[in-house]
Amino acid sequence: MNGVTGRMGYRQHLVRSLLRLREEGGLDLGDGTTLWPEPVLVGRREHALRALAERHGLEHWSTDLDAVLADPSIEIYFDAQVTSAREEAVKKAIAAGKHVYCEKPTGTTLAGAVELARLADAAGIKHGVVQDKLFLPGLLKLRRLVEGGFFGRILSVRGEFGYWVFEGDWQSAQRPSWNYRAQDGGGIVVDMFPHWEYVLHELFGRVRSVQALTATHIPQRWDEQGKPYDATADDAAYGIFELEGGAIAQINSSWAVRVNRDELVEFQVDGTHGSAVAGLRNCRVQHRSATPKPVWNPDLPATEAFRSQWQEVPDNGEFDNGFKAQWELFLRHVVLDAPWRWDLGAGARGVQLAELGLKSAAEGRRIEVPELSL
Ligand SMILES: NC(=O)c1ccc[n+]([C@@H]2O[C@H](COP(=O)([O-])OP(=O)(O)OC[C@H]3O[C@@H](n4cnc5c(N)ncnc54)[C@H](O)[C@@H]3O)[C@@H](O)[C@H]2O)c1
Repeated sequence: MNGVTGRMGYRQHLVRSLLRLREEGGLDLGDGTTLWPEPVLVGRREHALRALAERHGLEHWSTDLDAVLADPSIEIYFDAQVTSAREEAVKKAIAAGKHVYCEKPTGTTLAGAVELARLADAAGIKHGVVQDKLFLPGLLKLRRLVEGGFFGRILSVRGEFGYWVFEGDWQSAQRPSWNYRAQDGGGIVVDMFPHWEYVLHELFGRVRSVQALTATHIPQRWDEQGKPYDATADDAAYGIFELEGGAIAQINSSWAVRVNRDELVEFQVDGTHGSAVAGLRNCRVQHRSATPKPVWNPDLPATEAFRSQWQEVPDNGEFDNGFKAQWELFLRHVVLDAPWRWDLGAGARGVQLAELGLKSAAEGRRIEVPELSL
């Protein structure tokens, strides 16, 4: 596990996924056997790795990636490093014959991401990319509605994602500073469009075209050492996506917006028969039979409490942490050959949408998104 001292690597992948699996006694493979994940923590800083290993009672850690990859007892390489370091390390892992699972975006360019997918296929290894949003309770409920035919014909999807990320001067920033420097692989398009690609594709239809307007609303920020730096990357993106099947999605992504929503991301889906608003955890619906008939009249105060007219979709099940749920599927894919579709090819589609989104913003025009042939 490379990059486990980082936010995602530590909290989501190590603690909430693999260590949680160990707390549960391992992964029950359903045939009387149990898979026991034995992480090897890999990184650049010896003291940080040692401290992490000690804190969690783990035996294996190393600052020498090549040596770990040369160890034949190790089966899977996982990468949650900064994006700019991913391609080189994943290539080494593929060359060493390891199965690969990694964070998104899988590369810094489409060409790089496609190359990884091709190399992985040619090597015959199993490979995957994190697509955690698909496993969130709110989106699982939304998928249930889509698959149950609740919406009729889906017309549009409106997404709002974002929150205020502090500049770092009078209050420290709650995201790493590399996210705000284009030269270090930062930017909200590169960060979030890969997520929007798979969410839209899996729930509503493949993205056929993209039109984006980006901005760097906050041009100066302060880093982890309290030093000012120029924010060279986009911190907001206003995107419109045409989907196969005819629906239109519009998603605002911003680190310079204050939250006046129930959740940090929300998607409103409108269809001929009903509508839904889904967040990370919750999902509310309004059927056409319960749709009010407002009449536009600015001379009168609002006569109805519109937000109270929606109905909560029940959980009807237990939802695990999304990262852990996807880890379990990947481990089953590796050892049992269980079905799996979130591979490096899917990762490359996310990078493609980010790259074309940035191109659209730079050129001020709508851009077709061709189907990737790998
Ligand atoms: N799936 C998601 O929802 C999600 C959310 C946030 C981030 N991410 C992705 O996860 C990856 C890590 O993001 P993060 O927010 O955890 O970042 P982070 O800065 O907290 O962690 C980065 C990790 O990479 C290591 N690293 C290796 N080479 C480095 C270098 N040259 N400079 C700095 N750090 C280096 C760091 O030591 C650290 O362990 C990114 O690719 C990001 O796009 C995914």
